[in-house]
Amino acid sequence: MTAIEANPVDAGAGSPDLAATVGAERCPTGLPVITARMLAAADTVRRIREAGPVHHVNMGGRETGLLLAGYDAAAKALADPRLMGEPPQALAARADRRTDEDLLDEEDLFFLPEEQHRRLRRMITRQLTHRRVTALAARIQGEIDALLDAVPTGTPVDAIDALARPLPVAVLCELLGIPSDGRRYIRDYVYGWIAELGAATPVTRSAGLALADYLRALIVERRRDPGDDLISAMARSEGPSTSEADVLSAVRLLLVAGNRPVTTLLASGIATLLRPRDRWQRLVEQPDQLDATVEELLRFVTPAALSSRYARTDTEVAGVPVAAGTGVHCAMRAVNRDPARFADPDVFDPRRPDNPHLAFGLGRKHCLGAALARAEARLAVGTLVRRFPDLTLVEDVHPSVSPTGHRQLLVLLDPRSAP
Ligand code: HEM
Repeated sequence: MTAIEANPVDAGAGSPDLAATVGAERCPTGLPVITARMLAAADTVRRIREAGPVHHVNMGGRETGLLLAGYDAAAKALADPRLMGEPPQALAARADRRTDEDLLDEEDLFFLPEEQHRRLRRMITRQLTHRRVTALAARIQGEIDALLDAVPTGTPVDAIDALARPLPVAVLCELLGIPSDGRRYIRDYVYGWIAELGAATPVTRSAGLALADYLRALIVERRRDPGDDLISAMARSEGPSTSEADVLSAVRLLLVAGNRPVTTLLASGIATLLRPRDRWQRLVEQPDQLDATVEELLRFVTPAALSSRYARTDTEVAGVPVAAGTGVHCAMRAVNRDPARFADPDVFDPRRPDNPHLAFGLGRKHCLGAALARAEARLAVGTLVRRFPDLTLVEDVHPSVSPTGHRQLLVLLDPRSAP
């Protein structure tokens, strides 16, 4: 992830938002450097939000960019085809790649060249259908039950270790049809990648190459002997416009995109419902509020704290001129708590009449796993509430830099069975 240094902001001509809100000579946060992880911290997000919807930032001194904190400005930017360019780092990495066989780094998978991105999106969208997600529900439920059956109910357990971290990997393995002997391998790789996020260390690089070899062999096998899984479906859809390399990139993209935000939603979501506990109790008494509660958790937690776009050509964003290659970064936790869009944005209210949160993004990069993520969250939270109505928070260890927002979330599943 990119370090963002905030510059004193100059209010550009024709930019009433900037002029009105960030005319101060200081960075909106008062911090010399802003990182993606800091954009996940509630305090930083509040300061950015209160300073206004649009800010100039300086990304590590390499390029200037915009930081958008307002809902309308971010929604327009995320959907703007003029901002579907690639970041300068991705272009440089591509130039460095020696052969077609050289694998893209995981983070570069999020910024593919336009044509390749279109091909991959089309292939995934066609195969990762609502029908496939619905058909997977019983297996997701089976994974949740097995994880919960394996932990004690009367002594404190870490809800992240017990459920929030293992569930999304298990679900992706089910979706993709990873055989049971390959699952530990996928799990170790995904956990390792998340732990090393942003640092392309030799360890993660060689683990990535080994994983790609494993997946390539699986794709070949599934083409020969297909099952009802997503790898088989995508491998079968190979044709003149898609290739084995596309199937491999799609699988890798799903593995890196489909884990961490689900873990964050479950970890921070369970903590949100238990603090204060009457939120949990309300859901126990009104289980029909489950879907609305998950939607409000998506807004309240906003697992993906930063969405970035890059200007394809010289253009203008929120009234501010931006040059080709400029980064436009949306601080999504500020966006989803913009008081201009959400009444009482800091209040957790599953009954809010209108909740058009942007937790899954918008436009041509809208999350391809949104239906699956909703299914996972509804089944996981619904099962916890049904099986453990008395679930109690014991301790919530919450360092600001943790990718999940929580390092440990100790809960007692059933205090009545405590020794
Ligand atoms: C609560 C869980 C999730 C959240 C909050 C979430 C959020 C997002 C967001 C905000 C984006 C767009 C980023 C942007 O605009 O630049 C995105 C993209 C993506 N997500 Fe998710 N996601 C979740 C779960 C999943 C799951 C379970 C999968 C896979 C099964 C998945 C697959 C993807 C893919 C493939 C993309 C890239 C789309 C593209 O580049 O066109 N996501 N996600």
